[in-house]
Amino acid sequence: VLWYACLCNAESYVLDDKVGLGREFDGIGGLSGGGATTRLLVNYAEPYRSQILDYLFKPNFGASLQILKVEIGGDAQTTDGTEPSHMHYENDENYFRGYEWWLMKEAKKRNPNITLIGLPWAFPGWVGHGTNWPYDHPHITVYYVVSWIIGAKQYHNLDIDYIGIWNEKKFDSNYIKLLRYTLDKSGLERVKIIASDNLWQPISLSLLLDAELHNVVDIIGAHYPGTNTVLDALKTGKKLWSSEDYSTYNDDIGGGCWARILNQNYVNGRMTATISWNLIASYYEDLSFGRNGLMTAEEPWSGNYVVESPIWITAHTTQFAQPGWTYLQTVGHLALGGSYVALTDGKGNLTVVIETMTHDHSICIRPPLPHFNVSSQNATFQLKGSFGSVSALQVWHSKFDFKTKKPSFFKKLSPLRISDGTFTLALEPDEVYTLTTITTGQKGSHPAPPASAPFPRSYKDDFNVRNPCFTEAPDFADQTGVFEYYINLTDPGHHVFTLRQVVTQRPVTWAADADQTISVIGDHSWQNLTVSCDVYIETEKTGGVFIAARVDQAGETVRSAKGVFYWVYADGTYKVTNDIAGKVVLAEGLSGTRAGTWHTLTLTVEGQYASGMLNGYPLWKNAVVIAPQNGWAAIGTQTFELAQFDNFAIEAEQ
Ligand code: GAL
Ligand code: CA
Repeated sequence: VLWYACLCNAESYVLDDKVGLGREFDGIGGLSGGGATTRLLVNYAEPYRSQILDYLFKPNFGASLQILKVEIGGDAQTTDGTEPSHMHYENDENYFRGYEWWLMKEAKKRNPNITLIGLPWAFPGWVGHGTNWPYDHPHITVYYVVSWIIGAKQYHNLDIDYIGIWNEKKFDSNYIKLLRYTLDKSGLERVKIIASDNLWQPISLSLLLDAELHNVVDIIGAHYPGTNTVLDALKTGKKLWSSEDYSTYNDDIGGGCWARILNQNYVNGRMTATISWNLIASYYEDLSFGRNGLMTAEEPWSGNYVVESPIWITAHTTQFAQPGWTYLQTVGHLALGGSYVALTDGKGNLTVVIETMTHDHSICIRPPLPHFNVSSQNATFQLKGSFGSVSALQVWHSKFDFKTKKPSFFKKLSPLRISDGTFTLALEPDEVYTLTTITTGQKGSHPAPPASAPFPRSYKDDFNVRNPCFTEAPDFADQTGVFEYYINLTDPGHHVFTLRQVVTQRPVTWAADADQTISVIGDHSWQNLTVSCDVYIETEKTGGVFIAARVDQAGETVRSAKGVFYWVYADGTYKVTNDIAGKVVLAEGLSGTRAGTWHTLTLTVEGQYASGMLNGYPLWKNAVVIAPQNGWAAIGTQTFELAQFDNFAIEAEQ
């Protein structure tokens, strides 16, 4: 009687490899870029920076990521900032800019098998030949992209495994074919092509209609698929990836979103890889999509970082199934809500991941999530085929707790003894289980990082670094244009080491870059402060630069940034404007400023008043600033033009 009662309320699920296997698993990954999402990580002091990298990449420690996808910097705004290109100009080539090279090497150091992917969001202006389009001269774009892959190998010994087309923009079949042709001619036959990092269509249909295109595309990569695919995509016979997904605030609902889609992207959509936008939330939180990363590291000045739930949710799969493993065909939904997947290495190992995330606790940013129910349930699993003789499974458990806010993540429970090839689990809503024959799982930990602290109120940078590890100065987050360390040999003694804005032409953009360049820094809540900087206009007559305070927005809305902008121009005038666009003028007049010489600008904002000094003497005062009331400090230029900055300083009020 007891035996009968137990079976009747327990649905049963078969895990069998003899009925044939499912698709090959390609891994779970994170995306750095698209854009500038890892900007602040590089400025963390050791040991914190290495600890963070361990939580992301070290096998059997934390997320143990299997894929790292990076943006191929294109000098343009791509969500949370710009990333520098390896070719700012047509005759320019430099494979040491930015931090993606460094990040890929740190990932490889920890996991030599990690899969590397590169994808452009934007391109330097010369690639578009004066248009905002990269396909008019496909050979130029191909040359630009293939150079990046060759540079990765030549200068960093990094083998790029996959290359994409143009993030969430149109693809061009001829371009893709030329890319394949050129890769092969360059000895890069092993580099595979993902297309088209947008929706399932029109790429799937194009593959079905164009045999040549079908031949050269290896992976169909779709974004935010909501765990579903389309018939045409399945018909192509190609591997299907969720090549960008997640983008959800990384609290426990974010963790729930991630748990649900990691399983259901395969169960519903046959996707064999899922990549999180973004890898790590390492950008100012007030930029677009703050904290949409697997973990948070947005305070290099304090060293504080937070290992959020998505890290441990990732571990449930990545620590127990590797790329090259195969999903079983016996995967699916649980009777009372939730899902299970099972994977094998084909050598007798089995990993089962079960999630019972409820609707409200697993909502992702997009697409909308149709309603579904999840209730407590007993689930009986029957091990068949090669797994019939498995006698024990390791058990890893996460329990989201939204009531008492005392969740428990990635906890090792006692192993499950299996006698007659079956086991039953009492599943509650909002849980994740891994049951596995793999015994190497580990919940890694480092000592707690330093406490969180606001950006320092008193801040200085003279940019005097002879051999900087990175091309960009700490904490500056470029939002249009690119600001790089520069050695200026024309003024020995004073301004040898400076910061220089180097983008001289509007890029082939991905977002709406401003018409001016701008790099922001500091604390978005700052109200009253003094910003000062030595500035050097390089463009005769028409050049212009600014320093600013209370810059209220950046990222994708940088064009609409308001604040207090203090500009000086090569024509001997100054202006104070309420906006980056320079349309709302608060004050203006003569300054005597010109190109080719250094000037010191000082901007003070106090309550509703702003005042400015030039070379230490008052130039204007009592400009009335009603709004915004707070924001970042910033530097920038009037157009895409060369200009230098030195001895930057901030004094912000408590
Ligand atoms: C994606 C895009 C990313 C980022 C993200 C934010 O569509 O590719 O760069 O903007 O959205 O949700
Ligand atoms: Ca200097």
